[in-house]
Amino acid sequence: MTKRDFISIRDFSNEEMIGLFAVADRMQRLLRSSHGLLAGHIMGSLFLEPSTRTRLSFESAMNRLGGRVITLADAGASSFSKGETLADSVQMVGSYTDVIVLRHPRAGAARLAAKIAPVPVINAGDGGHEHPTQTLCDLYALRRVKGKLDGLKVVLYGDLKYGRTTHSLALALVGFGSDVLCISETGLDLPDYVRQDCRENGDVEDHEVAICGMERLFGEARRGILFTRDPAAWGLEDDALDLAGRELDAIYVTRLQRERLAPDERDRTRGLPSVDTAFLAERPFENAVVLHPLPRLDEIHPDVDRDPRGLYFRQAAWGVPIRMALLSYLLGTELVEAGDSPARPVRPLASDERCTNANCIVNDPQAAVEGEARTAREGGDRCAFCDAPLARS
Ligand code: NCD
Repeated sequence: MTKRDFISIRDFSNEEMIGLFAVADRMQRLLRSSHGLLAGHIMGSLFLEPSTRTRLSFESAMNRLGGRVITLADAGASSFSKGETLADSVQMVGSYTDVIVLRHPRAGAARLAAKIAPVPVINAGDGGHEHPTQTLCDLYALRRVKGKLDGLKVVLYGDLKYGRTTHSLALALVGFGSDVLCISETGLDLPDYVRQDCRENGDVEDHEVAICGMERLFGEARRGILFTRDPAAWGLEDDALDLAGRELDAIYVTRLQRERLAPDERDRTRGLPSVDTAFLAERPFENAVVLHPLPRLDEIHPDVDRDPRGLYFRQAAWGVPIRMALLSYLLGTELVEAGDSPARPVRPLASDERCTNANCIVNDPQAAVEGEARTAREGGDRCAFCDAPLARS
């Protein structure tokens, strides 16, 4: 059997994700029973960037399944600080473990690790690229409270340029047939390559819109990007989107990803208003649940914690059954209908092609990605590791 990795949300079909949610429902009921479903298995948790929820929920999930965990959460205390490549490290960790969960500051690092490691690799966040297991938690939470994943109207709010969770989530939501309205901090829009992938993944159009009717919140007209198959359902006229007359299902809030801002972006402060009770009293948000991948800074007022629409702590708690389901699936102890699982064919990178993303793993001298390992997405001019555009020199 070929191993299965989970690097991009697009690695799983919709059927597969729905199947995983059914397993997660069952895991939720089995949380405290000592079934030992993954007894005898070891998970390697490699966290080369700070993490609280993702690492602890993965480790909790593995422990609850009766498996064991070995962890490297301080790159400074490992051979990375001696200059060891990621490829050598995962090769070795793969021989100590049965599955690797990797968080890395470089985009594309998880895809590289998956190419090398003899065991399944799970992307727990690679730079500003993707965070697909967070998206499983987000979708699971949305589906539990809204009962479906198609036909929803979801706002993504905040730093959509560096907020990797929003990239995976936008791709998944449009893929399930929901509409996504992006309201970002000025200059921190969803990257163009993510927009392009959303158009393809969801077979949707994207519209640059001027959001009106929300002056009480936003002061002036805000620009946004709307992904929809049905602009009429939003009352879109030319590019004017009268949000006041719409009813939204969810708002997904993110913090400014300070650690990823470019030097010329560092002194920026948040321009979008915090989500508080007054914000949620506006008509479009009356029935909208509030999601956040956490950690929250001041984007959501603590008053919202007591509001039934505030879903973020439950969303984080459900991370354990979701990750129990994912680990059992990738380790072959749970079967899930895979449907038409997307293939990701690659081609060799031409000698005059390079990835334009300075933070991509292929542009990291310590990773030493050379020769045949350098690949592009088949049939296009995109990096096979981080999906950013390629340039020709
Ligand atoms: C997110 C991440 O690491 O991308 N956190 C998480 O995993 N729940 C979001 C963030 O750090 O803002």
